[in-house]
Amino acid sequence: MALQLPDGFRWPSGFLWGAATAAAQIEGAAHEDGKTDSIWDAFARVPGAVAGGDTPEVAIDHYHRMPEDLALLTELGLDAYRFSVSWSRVRPDDAAPNPAGLDFYSRMVDELLARGVRPFLTLYHWDLPQAVEERGGWTLRETAERFAEYAMLVHDRLGDRVEDWTTLNEPFCSTYIAYAGGEHAPGRTEPAAALAALHHQLLGHGLATRALREAGAARIGISLNLTNAVPADPDDPADLDAARRIDALWNRGFLEPVLRGAYPEDFLADVRGLGLEEVLHEGDLATIAAPIDFLGVNHYHDDQVSGRPLPAGTPASRRPTDRPGRSPFVGSEHVTFPPRDLPRTAMDWEVHPEGLKHLLTRLTGDYPELPPMYITENGSAYLDEPDEHGVVHDAERIAYLERHLEAVAGALADGADVRGYFAWTLLDNFEWAWGYAERFGLVRVDPETLERTVKDSGRHFAAIAAAARL
Ligand code: FCB
Repeated sequence: MALQLPDGFRWPSGFLWGAATAAAQIEGAAHEDGKTDSIWDAFARVPGAVAGGDTPEVAIDHYHRMPEDLALLTELGLDAYRFSVSWSRVRPDDAAPNPAGLDFYSRMVDELLARGVRPFLTLYHWDLPQAVEERGGWTLRETAERFAEYAMLVHDRLGDRVEDWTTLNEPFCSTYIAYAGGEHAPGRTEPAAALAALHHQLLGHGLATRALREAGAARIGISLNLTNAVPADPDDPADLDAARRIDALWNRGFLEPVLRGAYPEDFLADVRGLGLEEVLHEGDLATIAAPIDFLGVNHYHDDQVSGRPLPAGTPASRRPTDRPGRSPFVGSEHVTFPPRDLPRTAMDWEVHPEGLKHLLTRLTGDYPELPPMYITENGSAYLDEPDEHGVVHDAERIAYLERHLEAVAGALADGADVRGYFAWTLLDNFEWAWGYAERFGLVRVDPETLERTVKDSGRHFAAIAAAARL
């Protein structure tokens, strides 16, 4: 089935079709050529932390198969590739630079450019050096400065060839879920630590943005995972307040410091007394608001929220963020997430493509200062298996992709400035706390042999991109 696009719609010229990955999810070689533990290596060794006891030690062995994997981008005819650099590979323990690690990314960038694929580099996709965590991790102000130094180390080596730089990926996850919810590395469950991590990651973003700008980086951005917090009953004040709180904590609490240099007033009130005041220094917000050139939007699903307990009999959710007793929702731990009657992916995430259009339109309307946007992640996990010929007919992933691309087109037609779409993800990989059980790839990776096979969705995405360029 073809995309249903608005009447007369054309994808803007230069719209980028890409795929995204992250270092810890694909590289493996976790202790090779000088690399030392990241917090994900250490966290995965904690019994029960990752489903099935899986670890990123080997992941999908991308470190040794990088040229072969990048050839897939050419096979799919993609314009751009979003990848992340592992801090502990290029600066193990955040100590001396590691030439072998820097060489790996340098070869990768050369390989991409030789293929005519534009590199989009993410500096932090959740894999802090474990040695930094042992000193206090993101709860320390100093870590923001260390991050900016690491950013410059990477820029010194790759800045002659990489033009698109992203500081942080989804700081919501690497602060609240990591330091308060306990589901992501480093697995802490301390609300004050999460707020300190929030402020220091944003400060690190600002410091790195400034330093990269001075060093001549062409374009700098940040990728935020944004949601639509939908009140379960739009006439119930408790649900409306819950929706406001989640919107503040999850969306505006990142957008407004970065775009406007201020935390939202209601968010500050919701978390008052929990420690943010102590770490916020004069001048920090001006640093955090260093101008950016693009906003990366990651979106998978909306969230229906309520201020009331879940009705008896609500099926237990698989979502880590819903586990009893451990909440990433600092200051709003009472908020609940009643499921809506919508189809769900294998992650138990609802499928509601209109949400993506709504989000992009809302960002455009609410933030006149918004820079151009890229969808830096969107995709779906399904438990697809190959048929007897080794072919994966992942019709559900194709449908998810098509409906979400229609949503992007709808937002473009309504005036949103979206410059590209990166599918999550190129290859099946280590899906954090879910281990290898959850698979989002356009390309299948055989769990035993690690052999790569393009899925039907990969071919379909390639065809959509090719048609869009005509
Ligand atoms: C996002 C992460 C990405 C991947 C997808 C499914 O939150 O940025 O690494 O795990 O979810």
